[in-house]
Amino acid sequence: MEDAFIITGGKKLIGEVLLSGAKNVSLKVIIASLLYNTEVMLKNVPKITDVVELLDLIKELGGRAEFIEKNTVVIDGKNLKKNRVDLLHASKIRVSFMLFAPLLYKFMSCYVPNPGGCRIGARPIDRIVEGMKKLGVKIDYDSETGYYDARMSQKPTGSYRFQKPSHTGTELLILLSVFGRDRITLENCAREPEIDELIRFLNAGGARIKRDGSRITIDSVTHLRSVSPFAITSDRNEAVTFATLAILTKGDVTIGAADTSHLESFIKEMKGVGAGVEKINDKTLRFYYSGPLRSSQIETSPHPGFMTDWQPNWAVLMTQAAGESVIHERVFENRFSYVEELRKLGAEIDYVKVPVRDPTEYFFFNFDSGKKYNQAIRIKGPQTLHGGVLNVSDLRAGATLVLAALIAQDESVVNGASIIERGYENIVNKIKELGGEIEKM
Ligand code: EPU
Repeated sequence: MEDAFIITGGKKLIGEVLLSGAKNVSLKVIIASLLYNTEVMLKNVPKITDVVELLDLIKELGGRAEFIEKNTVVIDGKNLKKNRVDLLHASKIRVSFMLFAPLLYKFMSCYVPNPGGCRIGARPIDRIVEGMKKLGVKIDYDSETGYYDARMSQKPTGSYRFQKPSHTGTELLILLSVFGRDRITLENCAREPEIDELIRFLNAGGARIKRDGSRITIDSVTHLRSVSPFAITSDRNEAVTFATLAILTKGDVTIGAADTSHLESFIKEMKGVGAGVEKINDKTLRFYYSGPLRSSQIETSPHPGFMTDWQPNWAVLMTQAAGESVIHERVFENRFSYVEELRKLGAEIDYVKVPVRDPTEYFFFNFDSGKKYNQAIRIKGPQTLHGGVLNVSDLRAGATLVLAALIAQDESVVNGASIIERGYENIVNKIKELGGEIEKM
């Protein structure tokens, strides 16, 4: 079966696009819904492959998990009957390991495989496992089966300080702490807005979770009461993709349902390179081409910094900027898989070494001084890109190749459409409605 987008570049993208619900909020809120004793209804859930996979995983465990309307999902974990997470489904989605929390509360023990997801680094869960242990969970890994065996003999208690922040790690420990024995404190937590959305969902059901910067305290409650329906906020990564497309194609795109407060570091950089940005209101942003772009120096970091998920898009943008741009990736150690693909289109990008005083401190992955890393690229622009046959390796890199193909001079084939569809709802229609030429094969 074909799994490709055929794209003809060169059209200006103009018009309005309405963002879908956030993938990285939906997935966690769906899992958190299993902590309720009642049915939970979620609105504005994107119908993307990652969500569908997670729903299948929950159904396989005995729970109810289904789309009842276009973007409305119902979750009911009352009848979960298995405590062993299916290896095949779990290997496809990173967040499957967050099922530790509802399964431990339901069965006091569970078997969860090492998580899957995009290959953008080693992505170990050592900090997360350490945090679970600190809260009183006994957990062992069997390297032969690839499963974690977790047990809980009493309610979680205590505190944990992340050596370095982890986004989903923070979220899992929050879920584990909701019905703790007493107050649980988590320190040096990640501060991504998706985590705040998860907290908002749990607090709406009666949980008592407070965030103060990177410190989160969770006072225990005995149960959560149903709050349905709960509406998922919009996807900031999708917002960045369409904003970048607007500028790249010398177009003018108004983005609706955006949460502008989650995009500040991106907007600042966009303005810095000379892109037109207009905040129409709290939920609507306009991005328009307003003249030649300037080069930039970017380093990624967790929120409130410039997000790692945005840098692949930014690299394409910088192929159109005058001068030399540098992108330094601090969060993951393998997030430049798209570079080779962009070179196929004629982009001039090379790896560079940017000196860092203390790499162990500077990088957010577990830095190993004995290994060689490629953590920075230099992009020379402006470049005219031509068409080519491209291969998608991970979700965000995939969206990047679509952007590049949309400005390339002739036709391109982007192989691996299904990887992009893991995280982008109706991407083909949304691009077409703005005037882009793209077809799914
Ligand atoms: N890390 C460890 N050990 C751990 C946990 C993390 O070494 O126990 C490392 C990671 O390998 C990485 C760094 O710490 O190098 C930061 O990882 P983090 O745990 O914060 O990332 P994540 O939770 O795996 C989530 C998103 C990513 C997003 C990052 C950064 C979800 C499902 N995934 O990943 O989104 O890039 O946070 O905000 O929420 C995507 O949507 O395509 C995506 C990759």
